[in-house]
Amino acid sequence: MNVQAKHSSGAATAEEAIALQEALPPLTNEDATAVAMQNTLLTPRFYTTDFDEMDKIDVTPVREDWDKLIAQMVSDPNKGHFKKNADWDEVDWDGMEPKLKREFIDFLISSCTAEFSGCVLYKEMKRRGSNPDITQLFQLMARDEARHAGFINDALREAGIAVNLGFLTQSKKYTYFRPKFIYYATYLSEKIGYARYITIFRHLEKHPEHRFHPIFKWFEEWCNDEFSHGEAFALLLKTDPKLTQSFSNKLWIKFFLTAVYSTMYVRDHQRPEFHKALGVDPDWYAHEVFTKTSVLTGQIYPLMLDIEHPRWQKNLERMQVANVQIANAKKAGGIGGFIGKTLGSAKAAFAFVSLYTIPAIKHDVPQETLMKPAY
Ligand SMILES: [Fe+2]
Ligand SMILES: [Fe+2]
Repeated sequence: MNVQAKHSSGAATAEEAIALQEALPPLTNEDATAVAMQNTLLTPRFYTTDFDEMDKIDVTPVREDWDKLIAQMVSDPNKGHFKKNADWDEVDWDGMEPKLKREFIDFLISSCTAEFSGCVLYKEMKRRGSNPDITQLFQLMARDEARHAGFINDALREAGIAVNLGFLTQSKKYTYFRPKFIYYATYLSEKIGYARYITIFRHLEKHPEHRFHPIFKWFEEWCNDEFSHGEAFALLLKTDPKLTQSFSNKLWIKFFLTAVYSTMYVRDHQRPEFHKALGVDPDWYAHEVFTKTSVLTGQIYPLMLDIEHPRWQKNLERMQVANVQIANAKKAGGIGGFIGKTLGSAKAAFAFVSLYTIPAIKHDVPQETLMKPAY
């Protein structure tokens, strides 16, 4: 009997991985699921799109690279990887400093939701489509994301917590995005996901004393999965040059880059203890991740954000301060809370416009397509 198939890490499909996770005790934790259910600008969302339009993509212009990438994903180098083994050191949840524990659990829930968000979108595309190229790709990506989400849930279970993935699928609100926005947002989130995981992994290779939880040991193979997913979206974007070359689409690309980078900055700065425990300055980390992501997305996007511009860091910080103001005002409630929230939102919007209007760095996109993880 195949022992691996009993765990989500060895599942061949997303459906199987979710079912295996659902079968594990404890089945759910209401608090964790409630956090995963939140829909704010800063929490991971679930997306839906025009699946029929996506099903019509013709990958003929990128066929050679497409077949290479799919063959690599079918070979499934990470099958069985996302599972606790002898490298999984025991975690002293009770001895963990309470603030760190709270932030780390928040990080795990948010990461699990983000992984699962990819899974539900990809799984749905595979279910609705009839184009063999597209459905095959999305089934492979859904498989990977279900394993990732399952593995994070395994880590949460040790703290007596689990996100109810089945419940989330049915009950979380779905945000509609046109297919081209799905490509921009998902391509970017896969690449930034890669950059985030690899930056932490490389940092902890140099400073193992800061590895306060074993899950970070799994980040290298993890980020390779995200890298491949990003490459797949790069190829999808390449099937239609208009998507990256027309004037209005360039403005959209810049919008998504600015939104994703600034959201990451604000979200990470909500977890100071977590970053302190990792021995990472969140400003340094953000700069590293943006630099790597810009180089990687420069493969497809004809522009990069100028993160060295004097307005860049200043307005990220403004946005962060505005976000704290909004959170405090929400907690306070009443008229004062309402005014605080309105002022905070206006400040955040102003900071965003200020970031968005920094002139982008334009460049020529290289001809070669498939990249290898280089960091
Ligand atoms: Fe993932
Ligand atoms: Fe991914």
